[in-house]
Amino acid sequence: MNNGTFPHTRLRRMRSDAWARTLIAETILRPADLIWPIFIIEGHSNTVEVTSLPGVERFTVDFAVEKAKEAEALGIPCVGIFPCVDSADKREDGSDAWNPDSLACRAIKAIKTACPNLGIMVDVALDLYTTHGHDGLLIDGRIDNDKTVEALVKQSICFANAGVDALGPSDMMDGRIRVIRDALEEQRFIDTKIFAYSAKYASALYGPYRDAVGSKGTLGGASKSTYQQDPANSDEAIREALLDIDEGADMLMIKPASYYLDIISRLKQMVHIPLLAYQVSGEYAMIKAASLQGWVDGDRVMDEALLSIKRAGCSGILSYAALDVARRLN
Ligand code: PBG
Repeated sequence: MNNGTFPHTRLRRMRSDAWARTLIAETILRPADLIWPIFIIEGHSNTVEVTSLPGVERFTVDFAVEKAKEAEALGIPCVGIFPCVDSADKREDGSDAWNPDSLACRAIKAIKTACPNLGIMVDVALDLYTTHGHDGLLIDGRIDNDKTVEALVKQSICFANAGVDALGPSDMMDGRIRVIRDALEEQRFIDTKIFAYSAKYASALYGPYRDAVGSKGTLGGASKSTYQQDPANSDEAIREALLDIDEGADMLMIKPASYYLDIISRLKQMVHIPLLAYQVSGEYAMIKAASLQGWVDGDRVMDEALLSIKRAGCSGILSYAALDVARRLN
């Protein structure tokens, strides 16, 4: 019997021609795997670049609608809405988060009207709406879990009313998925999906994002380590994931992505729910920066990063490069 020893078995045989390599590729990156996060700004027919995210622009609602149409035409199934809330609309309690006329709600409505078949997801968390830049309510110098959850429910129902398809709680409060799910059911939003950021780490890779949405200044040097996970831990991510499944999540998210492929892979083996990963701003920025220096081939590194995330076990990836990559793949 040929038990796989050389020279009967030569693994280079199947690598020797392009057609054979194509035939045996186990993982294929498609536009359909991508979710494109869009930063939204107030105003009309305007774009503003994000210095720390080369190639990423913030769009006014009317322009975001045009870009969403483009994304849909490229085969991207879903976009994420990230409002750059004006400092005048930020409050201590983040109450613009449940204002039906907020920038986020206006963007959701406009994109839903123009592209009814395109999925729209939105972050559920208070960081974009609070004067202090934390994801939760700051009471006596601490992020109050249970009061924050009450606020997140108001925010979730407000977004559901605006017509969002998927809520992405990115706040890392305990118990929020169940309470949001109960509220959605109670109000008969039975098809509103919850993409729970289950394993969200207290990462230094969120820097350019906080720049883009203007929460960096408000947060100062404050850390989010009392609610986001310690990068040292992996079992904790599994516990978070199991809780979120039990509480009614439809997909689970791991964030950041590339530095946490072990978490994705462990979860893929253990749980039977589709996984998402967020290739966060710092991951994107590092690839772009090296590419602009001419030190790496940016397109190839980007494709390799996204492919690795998929190979690790994700069915979807949020990436600022989604539009570019989809254009290339088409
Ligand atoms: C906030 C939120 C963050 C990101 C997405 N939602 C930042 C944070 O937790 O401070 C980061 C995304 C990125 O870096 O691209 N809830």
